[in-house]
Amino acid sequence: MSERSLVKASVHLPCSVVIVSASASRKQGAMTASAMYVSQSPPLLAVSLSKSFATYQLIEASREFAVNVIADSQSDLARKFGKAHGDEVNKFEEFGIKTEGGAKTGAPLIAGCFANIECRVKSSLWEVEGNHAVYIAEVVGFKLNRNLTPLVWLAGKYFSVGAECRI
Ligand SMILES: Cc1cc2nc3c(=O)[nH]c(=O)nc-3n(C[C@H](O)[C@H](O)[C@H](O)COP(=O)(O)O)c2cc1C
Repeated sequence: MSERSLVKASVHLPCSVVIVSASASRKQGAMTASAMYVSQSPPLLAVSLSKSFATYQLIEASREFAVNVIADSQSDLARKFGKAHGDEVNKFEEFGIKTEGGAKTGAPLIAGCFANIECRVKSSLWEVEGNHAVYIAEVVGFKLNRNLTPLVWLAGKYFSVGAECRI
């Protein structure tokens, strides 16, 4: 199998689409990412972030972040927050994003999302290939909008979560 098709294997894993937001020293930032479930009790999830990104610097400083789970009506936000860099532009101002303060953390919560999950870093894996750090974080706050439908990322495209498969 060619190296190119092996690289493609990872993009065929259906992923959550979230905007990870954080704040430190009065600076706010956010980036598109994918979050994964780690454990229900205690409630833990994980994100893998490149150490070259501005949001990573904010999380390193504050040790907390919010996972804003994008609704299917917000796919433009996933694209915008996944392209611009916080050390070049204030994405919240540039894209006219409404936020509110977290109840349990200093991370900004993005309005209109399927869910906003506030997290505190429990542990991190530093020596991840390709300059990434994996954060395992405890859920400390949670807001859900049941009327919205979340997005999924698969093979470089965005999908709306479809009908339940009844077993
Ligand atoms: C759908 C999608 C998923 C992404 N997932 C990740 C991810 O899991 N980890 C990561 O480091 N970058 C990911 N990115 C890229 C970052 O969001 C992007 O480079 C962003 O501009 C970094 O912003 P910052 O420098 O302000 O932190 C993703 C981008 C998109 C569009």
